[in-house]
Amino acid sequence: MDSQNQKPLIVGNWKMNQNVTDSIKLVTTLKNMIGENLEVEAVIAPPYTSLYSISIAIQETPLKLAAQNCHWEESGAYTGEVSADFLKDAGCDYVILGHSERRAQFGETDEMINKKVHAALNCEITPILCIGETSKERKSEKTLAVLETQLRRGLMEVNMSDLTNFAIAYEPVWAIGTGDTANPYQIAEAHAYIRNLLGKLYDSPTASGVRLLYGGSVRAENAPEILQINHVDGVLVGGASLNPEQFSKMLQYREVLGN
Ligand code: PGA
Repeated sequence: MDSQNQKPLIVGNWKMNQNVTDSIKLVTTLKNMIGENLEVEAVIAPPYTSLYSISIAIQETPLKLAAQNCHWEESGAYTGEVSADFLKDAGCDYVILGHSERRAQFGETDEMINKKVHAALNCEITPILCIGETSKERKSEKTLAVLETQLRRGLMEVNMSDLTNFAIAYEPVWAIGTGDTANPYQIAEAHAYIRNLLGKLYDSPTASGVRLLYGGSVRAENAPEILQINHVDGVLVGGASLNPEQFSKMLQYREVLGN
């Protein structure tokens, strides 16, 4: 952990899974398993169609809501898109931006992602900006260069004050959905690099206030170890967040460790 006085941030990205009925069932099971207080900040990111119903279902629980994407315009002739403003209205406090699946499958560029970051900040939604290298890039020793480019471009014209509510998720593309979690050395190296770069782009107090998450095959079994790594302030969980036993264990890991 680095971000001062912040609870670890644990985010469940449901991706394109769970229709409205299944979303409510999953969140109800989760609510019953976690109780009323948590020693982590817990966020779930269901598909757009479930956001509003889940925002009602999680009232008076410690759970918070994220969307998985947004458009950068406020409203208008953008068929099929959803603005950050609408997400706020539906109850979202967070939005995942620049996930590698969106970059690879939907042509999202760093420039588009940067516009989305600004849209989220304008609506007081905390961006969770995802960055990470492919396996080819890692093999050719381009990991840190890729992280630097994605970070610099993703943060274009983002002010120091905007970073007080900001998260960056380091997600190596090769670790997502593969069971091939990055090792502690790889995670520590990437996170230290990101923190240091933020310090250079802004200053060191600002850099320490940004929450850095790791994502890529995080499960209940490896989450506690990952969360102990220097500069890891949370995790972004895909597959395992659809399993309430797995996800609730992660949300309660500090109680179990007796922290
Ligand atoms: P995974 O996904 O936990 O299933 O690897 C992580 C993510 O895509 O954010």
